[in-house]
Amino acid sequence: TRLHLTRLTLSLGALLGAATLTSAQARTLAEIKASGTLKIGTNAEFKPFTYFEGNTMKGFEYDLGNAIAKQMGVKAEWINQPFDNLLIGLNQNRFDLVISSHGITPERARAVDFSLPHYCSGGVILSRPGGPKTAADLKGKTVSTQVGTTYVDQIKKVTGDRNLRLFPNNSGALQALMSGRVDAMVNEKFYSLEALKLNGKKLQQGEMLFQEKLGMAVAKGNKTLLGAVNASLKTVQANGTYAKISRSHFGQDVRCR
Ligand code: ARG
Repeated sequence: TRLHLTRLTLSLGALLGAATLTSAQARTLAEIKASGTLKIGTNAEFKPFTYFEGNTMKGFEYDLGNAIAKQMGVKAEWINQPFDNLLIGLNQNRFDLVISSHGITPERARAVDFSLPHYCSGGVILSRPGGPKTAADLKGKTVSTQVGTTYVDQIKKVTGDRNLRLFPNNSGALQALMSGRVDAMVNEKFYSLEALKLNGKKLQQGEMLFQEKLGMAVAKGNKTLLGAVNASLKTVQANGTYAKISRSHFGQDVRCR
């Protein structure tokens, strides 16, 4: 427990440190518009949110980010990074905006500023047939997930630190489940549905462990950009663009109600 706490404190410290040192240099809305491109950071191995098909990025958040950029009168330039680097990279001004299914949490909101939620969802349990399906079943079982995600704390709550297995990528966490190295995986509901679709009878979906609101992030204090992102999100949600994009990826409208 002590080891994990130290690590958590360090990474949060790094985030806050980066915020204090560099947020003054974040590009303003005027600078972004003058350059003609909005740089968006994401971890594109998260189907159906952002992912690659060959060399082409696709997904719900990819389409939504492009629609928001268009609404702002600029072109989106997407930058693929490990999930764990995204908020730090944002505060180092490697991109203007992060769209990568970040749950809006108080800890993260100390380091970056979040937009209005761009969708609502939650974390679900995945296992092999006969494996754990409920939070109670997870007790004492090994569980995989991606490092730096909100799923980490939820897993710790139900099965404890020493049963947690962290992977840099979701594909590693899923592979660990498929090959029997862990008893279960916790991940985003729609990511898990994709895994189920691909792996047929080898996997089953259990209950939803928790719900969260997902938001886009800008560097701490970048008010002009945040204002434009929120206004653009509201516009595409009101004019039918959002509903169309959402239905094309999920068969339903995933906005928060
Ligand atoms: N919703 C989770 C979180 O907020 C997981 C997000 C993972 N996103 C990704 N692109 N891999 O931490």
